[in-house]
Amino acid sequence: MHASTTDLLNEIEQFSFHQSSDLDAFKNLFLGKKGKIAVLFEKLKDLPVEERKAFGAEVNRLKDVAQQKWTVFQQQTELLLDQDDQQKDFDFTLPDVPGRSGSRHPISLVKTEIVQVFERLGFNLALGPEIEDDWHNFTALNFPADHPAREMQDTFFISRSPDIALRTHTSSVQIRTMERLKPPIRSIAPGRVFRNEAISARAHCLFHQVEGFYIDRGVSFKDLKDTLYHFCKELFFKEIEIRFRPSFFPFTEPSAEMDITCLLCKGKGCNVCKQSGWVEIGGAGMIHPEVMRNCGIDPDEFTGFAFGMGIERITMLKYQIKDLRLFTENDVRFLNQFQAVT
Ligand code: PHE
Repeated sequence: MHASTTDLLNEIEQFSFHQSSDLDAFKNLFLGKKGKIAVLFEKLKDLPVEERKAFGAEVNRLKDVAQQKWTVFQQQTELLLDQDDQQKDFDFTLPDVPGRSGSRHPISLVKTEIVQVFERLGFNLALGPEIEDDWHNFTALNFPADHPAREMQDTFFISRSPDIALRTHTSSVQIRTMERLKPPIRSIAPGRVFRNEAISARAHCLFHQVEGFYIDRGVSFKDLKDTLYHFCKELFFKEIEIRFRPSFFPFTEPSAEMDITCLLCKGKGCNVCKQSGWVEIGGAGMIHPEVMRNCGIDPDEFTGFAFGMGIERITMLKYQIKDLRLFTENDVRFLNQFQAVT
């Protein structure tokens, strides 16, 4: 290569662009009519004929290199200028586009609130499996072998002998906790439960319960009533009436069903309370001595109460929801209404 073309190639390669005005500077210096490449072309005619062809090719290549380098930088500059323009057009004082924030499901909201009320009373949170064995769901809870709740029409079995099923109530967690801990125990266990029931406005095959129990020396039925009365006052923010009706569960003795004033009609009578003015929110009672023995707790030394409440029911009363199916339909018009509730 000719010395003058080599020097110029180096010079072109070393030229570095810093600002858009360098584009013109580069063009004038190398590519312009009086630029360095043009000067070399001028030299062409002074060369002997046999050298002209090779030299001409070298200078042409230089021209291509310079042109390419200029074009690359020119394109980058245009891009940057475009971005600058876009930023100039952007009004930072404009209000935000209202975002769509999610909301918590009403069942989750109420479940958390229930747990919080009991935690303030010294109850500990416990969780258990949704797929349960016969011992924890039935046998330890004193269900006789032929109890109807064990049958196919109520229970979703996963396998038979050994019987494994979707738990039909959260009382199974009561057993698991009693097996694990020594009294005094205060425990609260929310969770999903499953029963083979036809779906309607008042019933579903999947719902939520919260189980609670307290075992210590000298725990009485009065403690149960006081605790649940306090709970209702805390959860519904007002004095509401609560009543206990005698009932039966194999795992409690005596047993009761708990009703509270229907908050949808304020006790006047409506579809949800079947015109009675009362809504059942769960079952309760004193833990059966046999259940204590099954879990290694001496019923002569300790007594305890237990209760199980339906979270859907409580949520319906708290938020005036008339159809239980709304909870599982995932209709955003329903769910969005809970956005403001934390
Ligand atoms: N497990 C009972 C039910 O599902 C409710 C209950 C719990 C009753 C604890 C008494 C004590 O209906």
